[in-house]
Amino acid sequence: MAEIIDGKKVAASVIATVKAAAYTLEQTKGVRTGLAVVIVGDDPASHTYVGAKGCMAKECGFNSIQHTLPAETSQEELVRLVQSLNDDAAIHGILVQLPLPKHLNAEAIIQSIRPDKDVDGLNVVNAGKLATGDFATGHISCTPAGVLLLVRSIYGEDLSGLNAVVIGRSNLFGKPMTQLLLNANATVTTAHSRTKDLAFVSRGADVLVVAVGRPEMVTADWIKAGATVIDVGINRIATPERGERKSRLVGDVAYEKASEVAGAITPVPGGVGPMTIAMLMANTVIAAHRACGIMPPEF
Ligand code: GUN
Repeated sequence: MAEIIDGKKVAASVIATVKAAAYTLEQTKGVRTGLAVVIVGDDPASHTYVGAKGCMAKECGFNSIQHTLPAETSQEELVRLVQSLNDDAAIHGILVQLPLPKHLNAEAIIQSIRPDKDVDGLNVVNAGKLATGDFATGHISCTPAGVLLLVRSIYGEDLSGLNAVVIGRSNLFGKPMTQLLLNANATVTTAHSRTKDLAFVSRGADVLVVAVGRPEMVTADWIKAGATVIDVGINRIATPERGERKSRLVGDVAYEKASEVAGAITPVPGGVGPMTIAMLMANTVIAAHRACGIMPPEF
């Protein structure tokens, strides 16, 4: 049976480092780390995520600010808000929750966030810094940064000689994940919905990272014996057998059978999920340190 990778435990250790760093920064420089989260519209899942981010920011001792805007907010209004946060010295990190309502141009909004405050790592400047290996001044997207810590908990920092396969190629996850694994010396394949024989490609992976958004798509026969499997999916599926309107969360990997083949595997929930919020806090406290011109903590 596979080792279960405990995301809650790794995330708790990241949060402990963040809290200590935020406290020391406030005591020594009088600077309280500030995070602004912007949400537009009333998508319930997005509100749940944003609420959790705000709670965790407060727990870390941050100045946590949430801007909740109506669904009919215009592009100009949202850009104006981002500009005011860009100019606000008390705010070190800005996150605009995605997806945005369809009438808004999300890409333009993301690119309007100042790169040093872009704690999501989505600005082209931060994407470019990751691609060129500038880890000293850029920000890395939170979920891939968190996955890298989970992979390190199994293999350490150097992935030389290991084959990694990332299924998914989004700007938010698949592309930065590929860059991070490459930087750690893995041999990386980025697979996606147009890849020929995904199962065959996956079976070549020592490290298999799955971010497709399809419940339990990756089955045990896709997994090399002893591989490390990281499941980034969070899918809610109906479970009528448990009663009307009941549901449960599953990942993109069929966990029960996969864990009989894998060497190590992340559960859903309790794997990658807690890491995303923890790395958002890490990026924000890093931004606050850089703004004060002092060395940030390492994660
Ligand atoms: N929506 C789902 N995940 C994320 C994320 O990591 N960042 C932002 N901004 N929106 C999201």
